[in-house]
Amino acid sequence: MAVSPQPSQTRSAPPWWQTSILYHIYPRSFRDGDGDGVGDLRGILQGLDYLESLKVGGLWLSPIFPSPMRDFGYDVADYTGIDPLFGTLADFDALLAGVHARGLKLILDLVPNHTSNEHPWFLASRSGRDDPKRDWYVWRDPAPDGGPPNNWISFFGGPAWTFDPATGQYYLHQFDRSQPELNYRHPEVLRAMLSCAAFWLERGVDGFRVDVIWLLIKDALLRDEPVNPDWDGVNPHGRLRHIHTADQPEVHAIIREFRALFDRYGERVLVGEISLAPPELMPYYGRNLDECHLPVNFRLIYLPWRAEILRRAIAEYEALLPPGAWPNWVLGNHDQPRLVNRVGRAQARVAQMLLLTLRGTPTCYYGDEIGMENGRIPPEKIRDPQAINQPEVAALMGRDPQRTPLPWDAGPNAGFAPAAAEPWLPLGDDCAVRNVRTQDGDPASDLNFFRALTALRQATPALLLGDYREVPVGVAEVLVYTRALDGDRLLIALNLGSASRHLDLGFLAGEGCILLATGLDLQGAALLTPLVLAPNQGLVLRIPPHPSSPRGVP
Ligand code: NOJ
Repeated sequence: MAVSPQPSQTRSAPPWWQTSILYHIYPRSFRDGDGDGVGDLRGILQGLDYLESLKVGGLWLSPIFPSPMRDFGYDVADYTGIDPLFGTLADFDALLAGVHARGLKLILDLVPNHTSNEHPWFLASRSGRDDPKRDWYVWRDPAPDGGPPNNWISFFGGPAWTFDPATGQYYLHQFDRSQPELNYRHPEVLRAMLSCAAFWLERGVDGFRVDVIWLLIKDALLRDEPVNPDWDGVNPHGRLRHIHTADQPEVHAIIREFRALFDRYGERVLVGEISLAPPELMPYYGRNLDECHLPVNFRLIYLPWRAEILRRAIAEYEALLPPGAWPNWVLGNHDQPRLVNRVGRAQARVAQMLLLTLRGTPTCYYGDEIGMENGRIPPEKIRDPQAINQPEVAALMGRDPQRTPLPWDAGPNAGFAPAAAEPWLPLGDDCAVRNVRTQDGDPASDLNFFRALTALRQATPALLLGDYREVPVGVAEVLVYTRALDGDRLLIALNLGSASRHLDLGFLAGEGCILLATGLDLQGAALLTPLVLAPNQGLVLRIPPHPSSPRGVP
């Protein structure tokens, strides 16, 4: 099946977010510029040379707003400020100017679904049933037995309701009890949140990743959710089918309002965090492509790392994309175990090669470029509320391991923070050997592989904008596809297995030219009949244009 490029503007000028690599920074862990053991804006500013060397184009920062940090910034107490831990508004402006001076873009994380319980809106709402802001949040009377109003549960364990003795009602929170949910059925709430977003758009940010955008509105009747017959018994939140707390039809009108605001500022991007399978995800582009530019596609994170499963998932996703919609892919984030732990170290470069040669905007997670692993967090150092609130599944659900500080060098505190500081989470065990400086000096390192891959992507229009066609090779654990544009044709062959494979690419005559190998050990002419793939090897080749094919393949 062929999938044609569909940039939403003329091909000569696609919007920046279609041709840029997005890079996700967890600000607490990127670089500590002021010596308190927590990463900050000055640290990111100091890291801009490094980020530029990665050829990434858009930096997405997890929340940096004032917050009690119960969920490390996803509990916002002031949407138009900077938490002192991260710096000041002046630091922010300096960072934004530094980012823009390098031709990069900056994306902030908007958290509209819930505030901190210390936000003035909630303090007012909680102050009395008659307060004008009472209905800005979701308050309900107890059930007849005094318990919560319905059976909804929190992602962080336990009921999604907390009782407030002072006013005799429960408030809703799908995350920690310190994150009460706003009520988007109240018109003033949306207006208030839009003006918070406008504050940053006015300041020049290039867009937002919008937290849990598919949860913004809940069933008006607060009906109980049914038991999930397919629950795997692992994640307690999967016990119910979330048909009344997520993906409600009314959410689309709200997203359109956010998008309309962003559009008033020109080319600003709306990345929507939506954890849904492709058929349910697609409506979030909007019927007229007027909702999310990039509804986050989590397939590569959630699916088993098997070639056939991935091949089918890519085909399904490409086939479902609405006309004119732009794809996106991601391999890791601050909520998921590290890439290396999910796919294995032997496959990490293959996975990066897949991410960065697929059609659509890729998002990379800080540290994956040097192959960071999940950190080891001793019980007394656990910080994540998802783990603290659910000790019985902390080992599985805890998100601290994927949030450990980026090791910059082999010095004290791995160069993340000054020697006298105590990093907020422990450094990885391997940071003396696996760090930015060591890998920078090793031509065959993960870091230099990543740079070669991103440089190739950014310099090759066929990879940025070309069509995608899968190439059926009939060999287990191998994924092969082409990307082509204007007669330039690239073949990507990925061996997800640990045995070498001979591929019969009989439809191709003669030779191709290897542009990049995962081992950084091959370049130049290569025989295509057969093409030999070493175990765990990925190759990007330039192949001759081949307009007619007897087998109907590219
Ligand atoms: C999704 C974020 O990615 C996660 O880190 C956070 O805990 C929840 N939303 C709540 O904001």
